[in-house]
Order: sequence, then C-alpha cells, then structure tokens
Amino acid sequence: MASHSGSGPMRVLVTGGSGLIGKAIEQEAMKDGEKREGEQWIFLSSKDANLVDPEQTRAVFEKHRPTHVIHLAAKVGGLYLHMRENLHFLRDNLRINDNVLQTAHEMGVTKVVSCLSSCIFPDKTPYPIDETMIHNGPPHESNYGYSHAKRMIDVLNRAYFGQYGHVYTAVIPTNVYGPHDNFNEDKGHVLTAIRWDNTTLNVWGSGKPLRQFIFSMDIDRLMVWALREYDEVNPIILSVGEEDEVSIQEAVEMIAEALEFKGQIHYDTSMSDGQMKKTANNAKLRRLPDLPDLPDLPFTPLREGIKLTCDWLVKNYDRART
Ligand SMILES: NC(=O)c1ccc[n+]([C@@H]2O[C@H](COP(=O)([O-])OP(=O)(O)OC[C@H]3O[C@@H](n4cnc5c(N)ncnc54)[C@H](OP(=O)(O)O)[C@@H]3O)[C@@H](O)[C@H]2O)c1
Repeated sequence: MASHSGSGPMRVLVTGGSGLIGKAIEQEAMKDGEKREGEQWIFLSSKDANLVDPEQTRAVFEKHRPTHVIHLAAKVGGLYLHMRENLHFLRDNLRINDNVLQTAHEMGVTKVVSCLSSCIFPDKTPYPIDETMIHNGPPHESNYGYSHAKRMIDVLNRAYFGQYGHVYTAVIPTNVYGPHDNFNEDKGHVLTAIRWDNTTLNVWGSGKPLRQFIFSMDIDRLMVWALREYDEVNPIILSVGEEDEVSIQEAVEMIAEALEFKGQIHYDTSMSDGQMKKTANNAKLRRLPDLPDLPDLPFTPLREGIKLTCDWLVKNYDRART
C-alpha cells in the first residue's frame, strides 16, 4: 500500500472543517503530532465558500491550491429534518460532491478522501453490512435523499479512477459523536437531539434501535491515516466492532449518568425510530497491515467518550451549536 512519500509539500484542504469531524482533526489530531513538517492544513467552513456553488468552489480551490483534500462538507441533519427535506438533502449534497470532486480533478489534486455514512446502506440487507453492499438495494426511506447523494460519491470515485486514474476514495463512518457536534434538535444526530430539564430527559423514539458509536477523537486520526495510507478507490468502514453496538437507550442512560441527571427518562414512541439497526463490520480496517496499533485499535469506550462530550457541552453551552 502506497503512502504520500513527499514529492513536494502537502497542502491539505479540509472541507467542512468547522464541523464535528473537522474540528476533531484540527484541534486534536493536528496538535497530537499528526501534522508533519512542511505540511499545510486548511480548514474551511461554509463562510469560506458555499460549495453548492461551482464558482465559489473553484475560487476557494484556486486560493489554496491543495494537493490533497479531505471532503467532509455536507448538508447534514437529524432523522426528522431528513424526513421533511429529502429533496434538499439530495440536491445540495449532489451539487457539493460534484463541485468538490470535479474541481479537485481540474486542479490536479492528487488524492481526495470523502465521507460516506453507514446510514446510506440498503434498508433490507443481511447483517453485518460491509463495504461491498452499498448499492445492493434502496436505502431507508427516511433519508433516501442524503443516501442517494452520498452513494453517488462512490460512483464518482470509481468513474474518476476509470477515466483519469485518480485515487479519489471514501470512508464510511458509523455514528460519530463528540465535542463540537451539532446539538440542535433538528440538525443534531441521534445522541445530540436529546432535551432535558430538572425533572425529565426527553428522547424521540423508543430507544430500541441499535447503533455503533465512534468518538470524534478516534475518527480524526483514522481520517488522517486514510489520507496518507489508504490508496484503494473502494471505500472502507471506520467503526468500532459489532460487539460494541449498543441500543440508543443504553447510550441515553450513559448520558444521564454523565450529566448526573436523576429525573425521569421519557421515550416519545410517537416519533419515528428510523432504521432499527445498521450493524457494520470493520474487518477490512482491522485486516490492513499498516495501521498502527491494530489489531488492538484503541477505540475510546462509549461511556468515557460520552462523559467527555457532556463535560464539553456543559462548559461550552454558549458557543455550542444548540
Ligand atoms: N456525524 C456523523 O455521525 C457522521 C456519520 C457518518 C458520516 N458523516 C459524514 O462526515 C462528514 C462530516 O460530518 P460532521 O458530523 O462533521 O458534520 P457537521 O458537524 O454537521 O458539519 C458539516 C460541515 O459541512 C459544512 N457545510 C455544510 N454545508 C456547506 C456548504 N453548502 N458549503 C460549504 N460547507 C458546508 C459546515 O460548515 P458550517 O460550519 O459553516 O455550517 C460544517 O463544516 C459529512 O460528510 C457527514 O455526512 C458524519
């Protein structure tokens, strides 16, 4: 497996650099020795360029002239916003992805690592899911717009390789959580769209769906690794193992414990649960020979990651996305 051997300085443009994963790369991975001498890392937010717009995309690439891109920017939302706005999720994400990949191609970017998601896999599927199964059937109807747009990244990557030989690839994270997440009820992910006061902690849905949660401060290093070392066009799942899958209820109880919440937890079963499970297999990641620390990749235990996230939220409530 090849890695960036340094035929010149590496200039990495991170789209979506102000989001949950982007901030983890900037504030944790880069400060923890992942940044190498001579490298330049540029973290973009939507204020730098609206990537739905091809001209703004071109302008920001011309400004920074990246050699490598980590493409995180996406119109992202929680289950209920997806259900209401499938069309917007489809159109905006198709445009963002097409603009980023085509501009990267036109400007000679050597490598792009984009982000798919485990929620784009077929709804009706055998488990566990692996990387070969992305296109095997329709996604869950709650988020089909976002899912089809994300699936097209994989199609685009294969086409850029087929026609131009580019190594534009993608990773597939399961449910990411951590500091800097979007804690807004509409836009937040499963763990962040929880609301509480002194007496009640409200959860939308039954709490029964199963999820594999990965801490943002574990995935940041895996993203940097993928950029440097993962040279297949086919995507790779970045996740904790199947044995670490938990119910949303179990995760909520850990949140209550972290917040020292002593009231009642209320599950609003009138609200949709979304996909009941999407168990992903991380065998491909674990098989790779050049990933440091494998086979004992040290994923942060969920209870510990949730405690760190809750502490961060309490301390930073005024500036968090709520
Ligand atoms: N979080 C998860 O559980 C999870 C799981 C699997 C895959 N992923 C994927 O991982 C990537 C990063 O996720 P995340 O959770 O870090 O996302 P996030 O916290 O919601 O951040 C989204 C990022 O995209 C940027 N963005 C949104 N619309 C944009 C536009 N039109 N032009 C330019 N930038 C735009 C945002 O910029 P502003 O801050 O300026 O709005 C922000 O930096 C996404 O592609 C997502 O689909 C996430």
